[in-house]
Amino acid sequence: MKFFIDTADINEIREAASWGLVDGVTTNPSLIAKTRRPYADVLREICATVDGPVSAEVVATEAAAMLEEGERLARLHPNIVVKCPLIIEGLKAARALSNRGIKVNVTLVFSPLQGLAAAKCGATYLSPFVGRLDDTGHDGIAMVEQLVRILRNYGYPTQVLVASIRTPTHLLRAAEMGAHVATIPFGVMRQILHHPLTDSGLEKFLADWRATKQKI
Ligand code: E4P
Repeated sequence: MKFFIDTADINEIREAASWGLVDGVTTNPSLIAKTRRPYADVLREICATVDGPVSAEVVATEAAAMLEEGERLARLHPNIVVKCPLIIEGLKAARALSNRGIKVNVTLVFSPLQGLAAAKCGATYLSPFVGRLDDTGHDGIAMVEQLVRILRNYGYPTQVLVASIRTPTHLLRAAEMGAHVATIPFGVMRQILHHPLTDSGLEKFLADWRATKQKI
């Protein structure tokens, strides 16, 4: 499973990358806005930090303008993946960008059939929003399971990129189902590495070792 980090904060990206866990990055307009820096500068810096796919979202809502923005974003760096929202205009732009050889991440996917439509439009990734679906009383992870099954049924090359992950359990369930990629917030990435038994086990090993007064 590939791990992307879901942030535009360069310090978080650098830190998680130093753990060896970052295969790519996803951003969205809200995450970029939080940095209070110019969109292109943030994206260029991320691309210089991580050698993997970096999703950058268009903000137009009409296909021709999305296509123009997508082409501009793709020119920033060869690793840029253009994110288009799953609206009809977004699917038209996704198809046009894919036809031009630009990788597309279709975002804001909230149902398996929306996901199937994104795959049919040539998306490289489709992003189901698990946490936001859970917030509405639906089961986000169940949607991921359906999406993975549907793509497998027909052999689509599109990868399921599980987004809006809020807890380690979301990640665990997505991995169990064979989702291709998870985009993980920095806090959750750190959470999955900690276990109290690891900490207490290490403490005991080190105490026992110190008692021997040896050196390696
Ligand atoms: C990433 O591609 C998505 O934009 C992001 O995971 C959304 O997460 P949120 O629902 O926590 O904002």
